Amino acid sequence: MRITSASVKQTKEIARGLAKYLTAGDVVALIGTVGSGKTIFVKGLASGLSCRRQKVTSPTFILMRQYRGRHEVYHFDLYRLKDIHQLEQIGYEEYFYGDGITVIEWADRIKKALPRQYLRIEFKIKDDRTRLLKFIPKGRHYADNLRKFQGKKDTVPQKYPSHSK
Ligand SMILES: Nc1ncnc2c1ncn2[C@@H]1O[C@H](COP(=O)(O)OP(=O)(O)OP(=O)(O)O)[C@@H](O)[C@H]1O
Ligand SMILES: [Mg+2]
Repeated sequence: MRITSASVKQTKEIARGLAKYLTAGDVVALIGTVGSGKTIFVKGLASGLSCRRQKVTSPTFILMRQYRGRHEVYHFDLYRLKDIHQLEQIGYEEYFYGDGITVIEWADRIKKALPRQYLRIEFKIKDDRTRLLKFIPKGRHYADNLRKFQGKKDTVPQKYPSHSK
């Protein structure tokens, strides 16, 4: 599934819409170059889950920030990840396989550490205001929920040029 976003606001709305279809333990992997909208998307997702930013309490914040809302959200940003050991040190598996929702920027840097099933979202810069978002479900759980998200018209208002699969 592909959705074109024509503004920051739309990217947040799309993420807020998707948030309704995330369930406990879900993992969302965000892939895309610098400035393609991954963090903006996470903000929308967190807002869709009624999250508030937690106080930073430990050095893990460099790689992971935790928010609490309808679910706990573990927001990983792996841009500065040196190697997988750094992730192991913060016990990433407890998060990836925990009951919260894990969302990972630069997830392509840890391909081997990703769970077998997850929702992959690829971000492409079309022009200064336009981003192309490609949703790729890995596994049935994500395919099912993505279909529900896609089928729900209010999540992707008509004004978004929405492409077919
Ligand atoms: N349609 C859009 N959706 C999201 N961001 C947009 C859009 N159009 C323009 N932008 C701009 O693109 C930038 C996206 O920034 P953001 O921090 O989300 O990128 P990122 O993918 O997280 O980058 P990084 O890899 O550096 O973390 C912002 O400056 C934002 O204003
Ligand atoms: Mg970012």
